[in-house]
Amino acid sequence: MADFVGAVDQGTTSTRFMIFDHSGNEVGKHQLEHEQILPQPGWVEHNPTEIWERTRSVIETGLHQANLTATDLSALGITNQRETAVVWNRRTGRPYYNAIVWQDTRTDRIASALDRDGRGDVIRQKAGLPPATYFSGGKIQWILENVDGVREAAEAGDAVFGNTDTWLLWNLTGGVNGGVHVTDPTNASRTMLMNLETLDWDDELLSFFNVPRSMLPKIQPSSNPDFYGMTLANGPVGGEVPLSGDLGDQQAATVGQVCFGVGEAKNTYGTGNFLLLNTGTELVRSKNGLLTTVCYQFGSEAPVYALEGSIAVTGSAVQWLRDQLGIISGASQSETLARQVEDNGGVYFVPAFSGLFAPYWRSDARGAIVGLSRFNTNAHLARATLESICYQTRDVVEAMRQDSGVTLDVLRVDGGVTANELCMEMQADVLGVPVSKPVVAETTALGAAYAAGLATGFWQNTDELKQNWNEDKRWEPRWSEDQRASGYAGWKKAVERTLDWVD
Ligand code: G3P
Repeated sequence: MADFVGAVDQGTTSTRFMIFDHSGNEVGKHQLEHEQILPQPGWVEHNPTEIWERTRSVIETGLHQANLTATDLSALGITNQRETAVVWNRRTGRPYYNAIVWQDTRTDRIASALDRDGRGDVIRQKAGLPPATYFSGGKIQWILENVDGVREAAEAGDAVFGNTDTWLLWNLTGGVNGGVHVTDPTNASRTMLMNLETLDWDDELLSFFNVPRSMLPKIQPSSNPDFYGMTLANGPVGGEVPLSGDLGDQQAATVGQVCFGVGEAKNTYGTGNFLLLNTGTELVRSKNGLLTTVCYQFGSEAPVYALEGSIAVTGSAVQWLRDQLGIISGASQSETLARQVEDNGGVYFVPAFSGLFAPYWRSDARGAIVGLSRFNTNAHLARATLESICYQTRDVVEAMRQDSGVTLDVLRVDGGVTANELCMEMQADVLGVPVSKPVVAETTALGAAYAAGLATGFWQNTDELKQNWNEDKRWEPRWSEDQRASGYAGWKKAVERTLDWVD
């Protein structure tokens, strides 16, 4: 009897395998990190072969530790770091190049050229995205132009592209021996190559990047009753299980947080922050620097869209305090240090390490710490770092209100940084709305499991999923309106100082 659903969460820094029961409770988990390859400033790569090996290991160990086998799983879902581009040879199974990660800025020239002749506006209109280094299209173009033999192999149908969902689905279903080459609309909507209305690759967009259509995976629903394929008996799952759910990780967290109603939003605090607002079956085009993206497509139902505020650097700013400055020894110490002072002491830190994403989209921005006087200490810097996470979130919440007219009455949160109580207190203060965290904090993997389990009938409908959501903790705002307004004004002034830094 299959009492559980499994999910692989292939993230930016690690890959985890999780197993959930019908109530959405975690019954097993295993996680492994992979190498961050940084060949030069602004470049970030991963080794796709290492990612596949890590995926194999976390599945095998996760099942073993939970004392479960393939027969216990009704379905398997995949969720992944979005935009990160892998190009490999479908005959040999070998990647042509490392995966170019979403944070990588090497395609700056490709992205800025698109805005000089009107192609940028076509991308905004058709794909819902501003031309930026963040998305996959420019990364595929870079590989086609810079890696020997890929262009010819792509034209011959041998070189294929995928985000890490596609790469793992191909490997899990047999790789060179008949692996399926598929993705879902949430992942495809992050490439600058998919038309948001047709949910298909768009020839005009493909021509902007000179990407042959034959390289691209088939787009199938995020919750797929026809299944993308079955896992192999001789693969890491050790038996045949339907692969029936696939969602980009931020969309998966939105599903895991059961934001199925129009106007419901979640904010995930990881390396970066990603705030998604469900806009229903209506495509809302942003006038304020947000992305229009696919939230999910369940079976034959109409696709549901979202507005997204993507912030590149939040949790990774805390890591920077630890790894580069050495002022803390672990993430949790940022809270202890920041609590030593009452406020930021006039200091603002804008961690624009890869330029600024939403709502600014300024690749010419670079990080700045402003407002320093001799009075300030490491504690003020720690506090300013946590505040930067909250103020960047406020920026995207403001943009969302302007675009959609929706005023949040509560912000649902998840992700690693939510363990930082002070940061969550400050988030409620900076926004002036309560912040709420669910009992099951692993909403990303849970969302992928939900998509997979809906497809196999393990869960009947989204109402059933909503019953699984329970609040663990809520933080109420305490700042006065004046305090909130003057704090935010200081932040906006600090952001101004970071712009026009790079020519
Ligand atoms: O768009 C990038 C995002 O999908 C990465 O998420 O959690 O792997 O850092 P994460």
